[in-house]
Amino acid sequence: MESILNIRNVSKIYQSAGRELTVLNNVNFSIDAGSTVAITGPSGSGKTTLLGLCAGLDRASTGSVELNGVVLDKLSEDERAAVRNQYVGFIFQNFQLLPTLTALENVMVPLELRGAKNIKSHALELLDKVGLADRGHHYPVQLSGGEQQRVSLARAFSNKPALLFADEPTGNLDAETSEKIIKLLFDLNKDAGTTLVIVTHDPDLAARTNRVIKMKGGLIIADENPSYA
Ligand SMILES: Nc1ncnc2c1ncn2[C@@H]1O[C@H](COP(=O)(O)OP(=O)(O)OP(=O)(O)O)[C@@H](O)[C@H]1O
Ligand SMILES: [Mg+2]
Repeated sequence: MESILNIRNVSKIYQSAGRELTVLNNVNFSIDAGSTVAITGPSGSGKTTLLGLCAGLDRASTGSVELNGVVLDKLSEDERAAVRNQYVGFIFQNFQLLPTLTALENVMVPLELRGAKNIKSHALELLDKVGLADRGHHYPVQLSGGEQQRVSLARAFSNKPALLFADEPTGNLDAETSEKIIKLLFDLNKDAGTTLVIVTHDPDLAARTNRVIKMKGGLIIADENPSYA
């Protein structure tokens, strides 16, 4: 099975108050194209940091990150942004929609950055898929949490990402809404054939993935089905 993400000897060290804080300590793993992976672990164990490095949002202190055949280590901020736009979708716990744009415009952003064609009709199609066809003109503040997360799902899938990262996508939602978002996430994922990497505290969500990576104190302490194929 071909791997789409290779993490080699990756560490992240922060300098704070003259001290070094090792947040990720020599992490290694690969993820197969098309698989679904959950990353779990206690608060502060380095999950969000790791996801940010994998997605090219941030840079490792040492080690190497290879995403869909592109080595990110020596790329500039702008070059990483270009790689993200081409290959990566990201879903945040707190949705992170742009407040000055409508739901429809938020979904259109990655498509515009890419210079895609038929942007508006494609974005409307995506809003329809997440059940918000009639809410395109609403601003994020006019939408509930679950609705905002549905918009962010539509946005994340809009540029048909090879890899989709989600950081506690149901962390701010009630149980019933979470269940709907999880179903939508896996349905959209099935349609798109995307590789999915999800940080979650939710055992129901982790149980639906092919593989669970457990972290503690900046280390991987367990990895079920590491070579899922
Ligand atoms: N910019 C930074 N400077 C210094 N320390 C940081 C910085 N960002 C994160 N950390 C520290 O790195 C550690 C890991 O943080 P991270 O956000 O990756 O944890 P997490 O596993 O996602 O936790 P949670 O489940 O609470 O979201 C924490 O101790 C945090 O305080
Ligand atoms: Mg986190």
